[in-house]
Amino acid sequence: MEALVCRKLGDPTVGVYDEKSPIEFSKNEKIPELNSPTAVRVRVKATSLNYANYLQILGKYQEKPPLPFIPGSDYSGIVDAVGPNVSNFRVGDTVCSFAALGSFAQFIVADQSDLFPVPKGCDLVAAGALPVAFGTSHVALVHRAQLSSGQVLVVLGAAGGVGLAAVQIGKVLGATVIAVARGAEKVKFLKSLGVDHVVDLSNENVITSVKEFLKARKLKGVDVLYDPVGGKLTKESMKLLNWGAQILVIGFASGEVPVIPANIALVKNWTVHGLYWGSYKIHRPGVLEDSIRELLSWMLKGLITIHISHTYGLSEANLAFSAIKDRKAIGKVMIAFDDVRSISPKL
Ligand SMILES: NC(=O)c1ccc[n+]([C@@H]2O[C@H](COP(=O)([O-])OP(=O)(O)OC[C@H]3O[C@@H](n4cnc5c(N)ncnc54)[C@H](OP(=O)(O)O)[C@@H]3O)[C@@H](O)[C@H]2O)c1
Repeated sequence: MEALVCRKLGDPTVGVYDEKSPIEFSKNEKIPELNSPTAVRVRVKATSLNYANYLQILGKYQEKPPLPFIPGSDYSGIVDAVGPNVSNFRVGDTVCSFAALGSFAQFIVADQSDLFPVPKGCDLVAAGALPVAFGTSHVALVHRAQLSSGQVLVVLGAAGGVGLAAVQIGKVLGATVIAVARGAEKVKFLKSLGVDHVVDLSNENVITSVKEFLKARKLKGVDVLYDPVGGKLTKESMKLLNWGAQILVIGFASGEVPVIPANIALVKNWTVHGLYWGSYKIHRPGVLEDSIRELLSWMLKGLITIHISHTYGLSEANLAFSAIKDRKAIGKVMIAFDDVRSISPKL
């Protein structure tokens, strides 16, 4: 089968046929076999690129698998084979899931308990982008912050994978949503989603812009800060927070881990939530499963839409990583296994 194999650590934006590339486009990988009576083999239709996949190949992610490995986490596809004790799925069913590794390949094997049926009427390629980005933002906003109608939510990195998911979930929950992003194209897109206010970091200061908006709406401040960026932007955004606000620490796309002063958290009664979504699989699997089921039902009802700005074939994976590295993605970047050219961007 075809697969992307990471043979050494390094920058995956180098062309896959270049000898400097850490990733190899292989056509000779062994198709994985069913490894238990409840195992299911899925023919992958699409798999999404997450910032974490990029960091992992660079060797900068918290989880460092031994080399060589097939990267990739969330995916969708069609059931290709089932073990003798599989009761939930049949060959031909459409499913989505996520794995620690291995989805940048034509086939992947998972236990039936790790798979979610993709309802008829849901776009199967889009479903491959749902688990990590929307799952993270849903667990953060619904389970951890318990964001409610009328609260003010600020989303940093709002046009990125997890950011755009947080923006949409915030709107579903009835919050006033302020999106922070850089560049006219991202701002235009966020406005088209009906976001209450968008800050364009290419020509605006986050503090001034948000304060003006809050004043115009007669709102006191921000109740929940969703932060996948870190660095200076976190420091500035903290100046906008209400008494009793919540900070969701999601990631550090800026490359800088921010300092959240404990003395200010004490005086202002802030709650700081560190969130590592993947670890829910081990510690609170029920929360994670309920979350994905609810998201799939929202997707079917049209409450959320998965926006895919770039789609590539496996042999063009370096271009997919470049879209993430160069901050070109609006929503998700996908690798699709067939009819790539027929998958039009949803922008
Ligand atoms: N905690 C968890 O469980 C969890 C789960 C998923 C992701 N994450 C983390 O969340 C972060 C975002 O992930 P993602 O998949 O949404 O990534 P993404 O799609 O690439 O989005 C990241 C956004 O961050 C902004 N950004 C600011 N400074 C940046 C920089 N120096 N380089 C790149 N982007 C920068 C960009 O927005 P502008 O260009 O508009 O500024 C970009 O849209 C990553 O750190 C990832 O590891 C954490």
